Amino acid sequence: MNKTELEAAVDTRRTFAIISHPDAGKTTITEQMLLFGGVVRQAGTVKARKSGSFAKSDWMEIEKKRGISVTSSVMQFDYDGKRINILDTPGHEDFSEDTYRTLMAVDSAIMVIDSAKGIEPQTKKLFQICKMRGIPIFTFMNKLDRDGREPLDLLNELEEVLGIETYPMNWPMGMGKGLKGLYDRYNHRVELYHNEAHGETFLPLDKDGKLDSSNELTKDSIYRDTLEEMELIEEAGNEFDEAKVASGDMTPVFFGSALTNFGVETFLKTYLQYAPKPSAHKTREDEIVQPTDEQFSGFVFKIQANMNPNHRDRIAFVRICSGEFDRGMDVFLQRTGKKMRLNNSTQFMADTRETVETAVAGDIVGLYDTGNFQIGDTIYAGKHAVQFEKLPQFTPELFMRVTAKNVMKQKSFHKGIEQLVQEGAVQLYTSYSTGDYILGAVGQLQFEVFKFRMLNEYNSEVVMEPLGNKTARWIDPEQLDEKMSSSRNLLVKDRAGAPLFLFENAFAERWFADKYPDVKLTAKL
Ligand code: G4P
Repeated sequence: MNKTELEAAVDTRRTFAIISHPDAGKTTITEQMLLFGGVVRQAGTVKARKSGSFAKSDWMEIEKKRGISVTSSVMQFDYDGKRINILDTPGHEDFSEDTYRTLMAVDSAIMVIDSAKGIEPQTKKLFQICKMRGIPIFTFMNKLDRDGREPLDLLNELEEVLGIETYPMNWPMGMGKGLKGLYDRYNHRVELYHNEAHGETFLPLDKDGKLDSSNELTKDSIYRDTLEEMELIEEAGNEFDEAKVASGDMTPVFFGSALTNFGVETFLKTYLQYAPKPSAHKTREDEIVQPTDEQFSGFVFKIQANMNPNHRDRIAFVRICSGEFDRGMDVFLQRTGKKMRLNNSTQFMADTRETVETAVAGDIVGLYDTGNFQIGDTIYAGKHAVQFEKLPQFTPELFMRVTAKNVMKQKSFHKGIEQLVQEGAVQLYTSYSTGDYILGAVGQLQFEVFKFRMLNEYNSEVVMEPLGNKTARWIDPEQLDEKMSSSRNLLVKDRAGAPLFLFENAFAERWFADKYPDVKLTAKL
């Protein structure tokens, strides 16, 4: 690829994640998008796969035929002249630090909210990471085919709880059984509600934002209510500000129903008009790496261990930051300076063989790994060494005390912990008073993977004692007095030796703040 071809290819890339609380409809909306992209032909395939009701062999057959895997961590497809990479952010019991780190590898995010429930805890957590990165966030208020909360109430909640300005791109005309359609102020039309089989119908609005008076709908009270609400929003709502959308300070809000495929395509099309192209990345030397720079570079944001004991290999997920990736190319691993040939690479969801061979900035490639990579590693080709900024560490919420089952096997126990912690699988703390090892994670899965890998890769059986949910707060070492620690606020140090308390609950934290009003405690991300 020459420079012009590279620029053209990068220009088409849109890389994003869908963030949501479990059950808000992420799988359903993803599936609709894959349908538009022609990647799956039948609604229900992803869902069926998720619930296990889809015969495995059929599924594998589809994967083989299409060369895709809809359940993998990255889904790639072409739509409307764009090449889209959707990165999965697992929820439920699969929630882990990897989920957070995945957000380091995207250029924007779609936030799916169940309109009957509003903002739920996991959405909030993921939102905060996106906000910290200053990436654009687009909101899809889902399940309009069911009775939900008042749209204005939902917008208020977004503004108040998340601290982001909102701009409704469309407005529901009724909901649940009374759902008539969407008043689409952005495209200046009404999108009538039908179920999937009938397809959608668009009615144009006149210059005053009204439907032709001959239309039956104009006699419906829902139509009049909608016009009133629109008027209110025009007057009292925010003005659309593209710069604020780009900086993540304003979220365009779309209403719809993923299940009945209502408003989803309109959403996707409009979203793609604003979704950013692959962004530039900063190195630790404060250099800016542009996606269209010809020298290949990327960073590892996730390592997925193979849970099958017969296959020790893992997959390192690399976000390409610049240039072109070619299978078989030589790259340097910045941390060790080691040169390696990337033969064993895989690009997910590519629907033709050729695209597996090359990828460009914005794309994600999976590299089969036998232990070379760590999370946050930079790889690059060419002479100019690059090292991207450190990935942030996330404050764990779940904790476990861990010991080796067999005291005679301390060596492999320590080696395993050292390596897995370095790799970013879990976080490690040591108790001030006893020197015990305490593991921290954001999701239970991290502990399970840890235990499994300790046994299978390091031959070390571990005993884990759950300490439950805790709030981690760092304290300035100057202010620390070991007597401040109690059974409700365990004093530990992190890997860098910095002291922190693990508070049992909010009550314990308040009690501490009352007792030591001058002590400043800080939360990390
Ligand atoms: P997730 O990936 O965010 O966890 O959510 P998922 O898409 O699996 O959707 C969760 C549930 O919500 C599913 O129901 C799904 O059918 C339903 N759902 C998704 N979008 C809509 C929508 O727009 N309207 C309505 N009414 N429901 C929606 P389920 O009961 O778990 O599965 P199923 O038994 O219905 O298949």
